[in-house]
Amino acid sequence: SPAAKATSADRGAFSGRTAFIFAAIGSAVGLGNIWRFPAVAYENGGGAFILPYLVALLTAGIPLLFLDYAIGHRWRGSAPTAWRRFKRWTEFIGWWQVLIALIIALYYALILAWATNYTIFSLDQRWGDDPAGFFGEYTQALGGAEATISFDIVPAVLVSMIIVWLAVIIVMALGVQKGIAASSVVFIPLLVLMFVILVARALFLPGAIDGLEALFKPNWGALLDPSVWIAAYGQIFFSLSVAFGIMLTYSSYLKKKTDLTGSGLVVGFANSSFEILAGIGVFSALGFMAQAQGVAIDEVVTDGVGLAFIAFPAIISQAPTGAGTLIGVLFFGSLVLAGFTSLISIVEVVIAAIQDKFGFARIAATLWVCVPLAVVSTALFSTTMGLPLLDVLDKWANEYGIVAAALVSTIVVTYVVRGLPTLRDHLNHQGTFGIGTWWLVCVGVIAPLVLGTSLVLSTRDLLM
Ligand code: PHE
Repeated sequence: SPAAKATSADRGAFSGRTAFIFAAIGSAVGLGNIWRFPAVAYENGGGAFILPYLVALLTAGIPLLFLDYAIGHRWRGSAPTAWRRFKRWTEFIGWWQVLIALIIALYYALILAWATNYTIFSLDQRWGDDPAGFFGEYTQALGGAEATISFDIVPAVLVSMIIVWLAVIIVMALGVQKGIAASSVVFIPLLVLMFVILVARALFLPGAIDGLEALFKPNWGALLDPSVWIAAYGQIFFSLSVAFGIMLTYSSYLKKKTDLTGSGLVVGFANSSFEILAGIGVFSALGFMAQAQGVAIDEVVTDGVGLAFIAFPAIISQAPTGAGTLIGVLFFGSLVLAGFTSLISIVEVVIAAIQDKFGFARIAATLWVCVPLAVVSTALFSTTMGLPLLDVLDKWANEYGIVAAALVSTIVVTYVVRGLPTLRDHLNHQGTFGIGTWWLVCVGVIAPLVLGTSLVLSTRDLLM
């Protein structure tokens, strides 16, 4: 049968729960924790945001994490294979996830390449007193350049793209345990260590306390605004990497008997803790920046590319010598580590699918997936189209692609196939604690409602 062929002897396995938990935390803790959460929290009620955020974690993030685990572990396969075994015609959901993974990998690698360069640029603060202008020249895409394809490759970006993809290829070729788990077991503690030092230093910058006050000052009125709740669910979905096929794939590498629910709680809370730590670090730095420039915090709050590659370089240059370099190396180094362990998780979705589909050995599958990805991402983004394209892909993947995948999978599992009770039994045979009816309500009612609403809202924004 095709299913027998798909389970090639070459299928990887985690050595145990710890390896799995580190790999899963590695995937969850990514760029989103560092450069997305702080601004989202600030703009959606500050200290009061913690309430919708925790509700979203408990009513959708962790329940959907369990769903991913249950499908992957019960049906043991890459995303398309596990979905096919669940119910033949649902295989398309898995391929949809593979497509999203491919797109995210393309631009995630680029950001990692930038962060790698900027870790080194921090040493001599190469951006001088014009970080925005420097970044524009560096990417050749900012500063109003026309979005035309001109292959004027920037050597620095090119070199670090090659380094990033070589590292990915080596780790992925080493396989699930020796590659993915082993690198996460080293990188995640290192990331936490570096980030704690970063936060500790940033807290002592003048103005840091003002930044924290701005972040944590609760605006309780915000809780009456539905968009604040949607933002909380959006952040949780993205941050936990649920519905991407990642957690599904990872859990298929676990032993038959494993505590799935216990592991899910560890991953969920570890991810959120890191997110709050990042909020403290980023807002200490922003508070310092506002004070140094004599402006209100509100004027310096940004997220994403602007926060990392324009605001932080400015902060690094304005900080006392020594402190600036330290903050720069730790900040960009953290982006590299957090981003790398997320990038390999998204690439694994594709590699596992190709392995299952064609029966390839690990190394062959790695090369078939990573070499074209490396070439395409380097070629695409080495042009002046890079930055605009990154925005488009990111928006498409995260506001539509993944929300639609999550919505379709919760509806299909709950109402079309009616598979939730079986999956719950599977989880309950494994975990240290049992899950009850509330899980069915979260996955079958709350999650689809929130996902449907946010899909409608983003589509409305698109049309208006
Ligand atoms: N969870 C990651 C983050 O918070 C985002 C991500 C999702 C990365 C899926 C890769 C794949 O940054």
